Amino acid sequence: MGPTAREQRWPAQLGAMFQHAGVAAAYRHRAPYPAEVFDVLAGLIVDEPRHVLDLGAGEGALARPLAALAPRVGRVDAVDISAAMAEAGRRRPGGTRQNLRWIVGAAESAPLDGPYALATAGASLHWMPWEATLGRLGQIITPGAVLAIVDHGCDDTPWDDALREVIVAHSRNPGYSAAFSMEAELERVGLLEIRGRHRTAPVTFRQRAEDYLEQLHSTSSLARELMTAAEAVAFGQEVREVVRPFMRDGMLDMTLTASLVWGRPR
Ligand SMILES: C[S@@+](CC[C@H](N)C(=O)[O-])C[C@H]1O[C@@H](n2cnc3c(N)ncnc32)[C@H](O)[C@@H]1O
Repeated sequence: MGPTAREQRWPAQLGAMFQHAGVAAAYRHRAPYPAEVFDVLAGLIVDEPRHVLDLGAGEGALARPLAALAPRVGRVDAVDISAAMAEAGRRRPGGTRQNLRWIVGAAESAPLDGPYALATAGASLHWMPWEATLGRLGQIITPGAVLAIVDHGCDDTPWDDALREVIVAHSRNPGYSAAFSMEAELERVGLLEIRGRHRTAPVTFRQRAEDYLEQLHSTSSLARELMTAAEAVAFGQEVREVVRPFMRDGMLDMTLTASLVWGRPR
């Protein structure tokens, strides 16, 4: 059998890049999720116990702030296939909270301890086998629980177009375009019944230009581990050139928004 549409868009060998310590280390420079995300997520919990399962938790960008919302949120189980990402998460603020549990393993097969009143997936579900993951999820969530798919980013930066050219020249997935709705596809193939959506209000995000460059290397297709040292230097110079006109005191100002789509696995 040939690769599925998911495997073509998000090749497994790129998903495996999150196993590298360098990618995990670069990850802390990604923009955080806006605070509004966590209020919306906590509001989706209607059952007891108020436990949350975070699928593909990475270094806990969703899991750590969620755990901090106790008692609105109960225990948070943060499952990720990458030991390096979980290890990075343990060292981040809130990474050792008592109600946060790191589980290293595949979402579709790792030992889990449900039932969960909410499942979350931040920029991660596209890497997972959809049928196995959503099929399993349906068995371990409470009757009122939903899966919330969360994404965020700094869109519409004035350097977007120029940066895209640099990215396409260096990306190991150059044909990738974000113009695809995973949620719509999941609903179309009968794996998810969408129940709601939310887009957060834009918030300002300010970052050192050097950290902005570093977070690009936390993207699987731009991992330093995929580049020669010379290419990584060239990439850095090209990105710096693109953002330089917009830098103020070495900093970049961006506008951050997040989108949430939630539904019931079928
Ligand atoms: C882009 S990161 C997102 C991390 C985090 N959720 C966030 O929002 O910052 C994707 C994560 O999914 C994880 N992942 C990929 N396939 C997985 C699987 N089958 N089971 C569990 N985690 C997986 C990767 O290791 C990686 O840490």
